[in-house]
Amino acid sequence: MDKKNVYLDNNATTPMDDRVIEVMTKVMRESYGNPSSVYQVGQKGKKIIEESREMISGLLGLKSREIVFTSGGTESNNMAIRGVARCLKKKGMHLITSAIEHSSVLNTFKDMESLGWEVTYLGVDEKGKVNTEELRRSIKDETVLISIMHSNNEIGTFQPITEIGKIAKEKNIIFHVDGVQSVGKIKIDFENIDLFSFAAHKFYGPKGIGALYVKSGVKIEKLITGGHQERNRRAGTENVPGVCGMAKALEITLENLYVEMEKEKKLRDYMEKKILENIGKVTINGDLSNRLSNTSSISFEKVEAESLLFALDMKGIAVSAGSACASSTLSPSHVLEAIGFSISKAKSTLRISLGRFTQKEEIDYFVEILEMAVGNERNLNII
Ligand SMILES: Cc1ncc(COP(=O)(O)O)c(C=O)c1O
Repeated sequence: MDKKNVYLDNNATTPMDDRVIEVMTKVMRESYGNPSSVYQVGQKGKKIIEESREMISGLLGLKSREIVFTSGGTESNNMAIRGVARCLKKKGMHLITSAIEHSSVLNTFKDMESLGWEVTYLGVDEKGKVNTEELRRSIKDETVLISIMHSNNEIGTFQPITEIGKIAKEKNIIFHVDGVQSVGKIKIDFENIDLFSFAAHKFYGPKGIGALYVKSGVKIEKLITGGHQERNRRAGTENVPGVCGMAKALEITLENLYVEMEKEKKLRDYMEKKILENIGKVTINGDLSNRLSNTSSISFEKVEAESLLFALDMKGIAVSAGSACASSTLSPSHVLEAIGFSISKAKSTLRISLGRFTQKEEIDYFVEILEMAVGNERNLNII
């Protein structure tokens, strides 16, 4: 175990799998041509893109033409929300989402409001779950889009996607799902989902590449204008190594999905048990029986998470206070606020997210250092 590098922030991003780096390096060396060029090295790139698209759609049980490559989760979310809203503007200008979405969704909806759309932000219960009855009540004749995340990046809670999808279908409303945290962590059922965002860097692939699933027949207005790439849905020279890296990363991840899920859940549960037993005055947040198997959100009474973050970092341990975005702004997490936390409780919360490469010895080391850091902080706070 490398004590200088214990990485427990896999929901922020994952380290790349060596097998992905290998295939990408080969593509970067050998298939550098522009896929729109007609000569051989260009067509080599085009072939890689189309084979990767086939592979990704096949692995997820979708049709290849339903996959649009993007620069990642943020762009996919923007493409889905803005694309549908603009396309259906004449039909209606009411959109529905939840209060605990990722900033790439929330800030897009905020922008839509400034442009004249009406947005309903559904609240969540103390476990972070949307209430489907509240959703039903918020639907109007003008509602054209519901956008709800598959699982939450901070507390891991799964939303009732199947039920929401049924409601959307029954009411003839487009349903977008931000699945960025779920792909590679659980099997996805795409029934009744019209649009679905995902990004390779959350499943051991490269950063800066993602995709939006657009169900056949669903129309979106394009965001980025220019050339005719991606069947005229997203302009710009394709990221050939990124696309091929994403396909390889997804293949590796899905091959061992259940084994990895079980392994991470076992380690996560072991870690939580140790923290509960050894540290005390802690609460574990979210829906404990219905959450991502790698994610743990823990509040420590009378301790500032920021101080813990620095103390842990000094010992080579990377965790997060809330989400990556929330931690860089130092403002309390909107997710924890939405599940009813006071500002001080939200500010005493850490997110620990395990991954493919997490080992038991690393968890033991983490808990040992955490126990010391919490003890020190609590002692300081008494004085
Ligand atoms: C739930 C969720 N949606 C969207 C994103 C944004 O994805 P990207 O970083 O690929 O733009 C993230 C990233 O943390 C996320 O956790």
